[in-house]
Amino acid sequence: MSALLEIRDLWVTYQVRSGLQLRRRPFHAVKGASLSIQPGQTLGIVGESGSGKSSLANAVLGLVPASSGSIHFDGQDLATMKTHYPEAVREQIQAVFQDPFSSLNPSMTVEQIVGEPLRVHTTMSREERRARVVELLELVSLSAEHLHRHPHQFSGGQRQRIAIASALALTPKLIVLDEPVSALDVSTQNQIINLLYERRDALGIAYLLIAHDLALVHHISERIAVMYLGHVVEEGPSDRVYHAPAHPYTKVLLEAVPLLDPAAQRARRAARKAAPIIDAPREVSVGCPYKNRCPLVMDRCRSEMPPAYPVEGGGVANCFLHAGAEQGKGRMEIAAG
Ligand SMILES: Nc1ncnc2c1ncn2[C@@H]1O[C@H](COP(=O)(O)OP(=O)(O)OP(=O)(O)O)[C@@H](O)[C@H]1O
Ligand SMILES: [Mg+2]
Repeated sequence: MSALLEIRDLWVTYQVRSGLQLRRRPFHAVKGASLSIQPGQTLGIVGESGSGKSSLANAVLGLVPASSGSIHFDGQDLATMKTHYPEAVREQIQAVFQDPFSSLNPSMTVEQIVGEPLRVHTTMSREERRARVVELLELVSLSAEHLHRHPHQFSGGQRQRIAIASALALTPKLIVLDEPVSALDVSTQNQIINLLYERRDALGIAYLLIAHDLALVHHISERIAVMYLGHVVEEGPSDRVYHAPAHPYTKVLLEAVPLLDPAAQRARRAARKAAPIIDAPREVSVGCPYKNRCPLVMDRCRSEMPPAYPVEGGGVANCFLHAGAEQGKGRMEIAAG
């Protein structure tokens, strides 16, 4: 089966000003990421705040330009189009973002919000659109009685349902879900995740799902990728990554408690946007990105960037602990220790 989305050596670079310096300098938020998604399947992306997950997602959506690399979607290279995707591509890639309080236009009714993609991308009449919107609302367990209400009349979970209905309107091939449930309470999170799961299987839509919580991602994804400081450091089948993490960082992530309070998460993010973590110039390309925090660091890690090594059970880990794995010997027992 050929991939629906194939990302190769993707870099996303922002021009940032640090401290009192007037001159902007490049800050690489995504550094050479390679990932793929099969039609109808879900790739989960996890990693701590600032690791570049949204930057990668936004490059796929054409919201920020790729500075280099390729993003093949359905046979076309989106990276070369920068942020100017043709309508045929925009129809096929939809998005749901984290904050259902700011992502829905407060002055529009539910009918207008959910019907917007239909108005922009189809020639449906108003009546046809309304019928389709009611159908879509029912798909997300809302109903025709909600058509004329405004976003402020809904709870966070219901707003996310509205955002999902709108993303489903054109039955796209791919939906990018950037922390779709992080702002919701735990029981609502489960409902929304189950809803996404059911709709995906019924409609054959692929997801690029970003979340902090590895357990949640594991539940719905076929594959999981782990990002650290702009790098994809591990990728593989969901069960293998979850039950037998290969990269030392993935193990730490599995033990980490997610930040449940959305206000605390927003504050942390705002602080980081104001002062992005910029690598010291000498560190940019030298050695493993995780070397300074890794409990198992070896001499080699300080001077060489680990390539992607195959891992038993599927997938890859960019870690020298797996360098011997393909010869059937090596350091797997250290990695497990
Ligand atoms: N528009 C921008 N201009 C400059 N720097 C940016 C911009 N957007 C993001 N960054 C920086 O790029 C890095 C990656 O940010 P990104 O939002 O992609 O991370 P993330 O993994 O999605 O984090 P979170 O989990 O908090 O959403 C951060 O250091 C961030 O400060
Ligand atoms: Mg993000």
